[in-house]
Amino acid sequence: MKTIGVFDSGVGGLSVLRALLAEIAGARFVYLADSSHAPYGERHSWQVVERTQRIANALRQRHAIDALVVACNTATALAIDSLRQHHPDLPIVGVEPALKPAAARSHSGRIGVLATRGTLQSARFVQLRRRTESDSARPLHFLCQPCDGLADAIERGDLTATQALCERYIDALQTAAPESGPIDTLVLGCTHYPFASEQLGALCGPAVSLIETGTPVALRTRALLGLAAGASSKPAALKLLSTGDPVALTRAAQRWLANAGQASPLQV
Ligand code: DGL
Repeated sequence: MKTIGVFDSGVGGLSVLRALLAEIAGARFVYLADSSHAPYGERHSWQVVERTQRIANALRQRHAIDALVVACNTATALAIDSLRQHHPDLPIVGVEPALKPAAARSHSGRIGVLATRGTLQSARFVQLRRRTESDSARPLHFLCQPCDGLADAIERGDLTATQALCERYIDALQTAAPESGPIDTLVLGCTHYPFASEQLGALCGPAVSLIETGTPVALRTRALLGLAAGASSKPAALKLLSTGDPVALTRAAQRWLANAGQASPLQV
């Protein structure tokens, strides 16, 4: 049975793990929340590169993973190239803001993108945006909004702060460049944000489609490893680890995955 390592700066990658558990049968999962170093999105890129290297090494040495899912847009944007260079024999799947699916879904071509500052400033994101614009037969308008503090508020389970930050950032998107009309599609470009999708959806209204990446990433992982379709059995097939407070990860996993078991501490 293959063991798939999955990691994020914290609990956000549970939104990707949820899709992996729903789409892949017959695999074991080890999820690591690097909560003692969250948030990644407002750190220097060298710090994110260093954390991802340490995590990949620890998951390989201590948990013998056969593949790694980087369930974090920021870590993918800043560190996946160096991770692949250091681990050429390990299948690695990353997560990127879903600009192309959003371009295919949008009618107006006006698309909001919520992500961390680190993701939006990365060369990888700039290239993805340019490629998506140049591949499109019609003009696209991407309105990119860095969401300082939002992943952290979700990480802490602080609903009041989460609501206030969602209001601030959706308001900023709605008032940006009003002459070209409102957005009709919103990309959740950070794996924490699906856990605020109710608040974001209510603020945007029913005319705006919210796009996240958990399911496409799960399908890509399944195809890459030649695994069977179906749902994994929880909690037997899942180990939860945290570099921060394991109780907080257990609580988040109970809330978002249902019946996920207890998390354990891991120093990396
Ligand atoms: N969940 C992460 C992402 O997808 C990172 C959030 C953070 O740590 O800033 O970008």
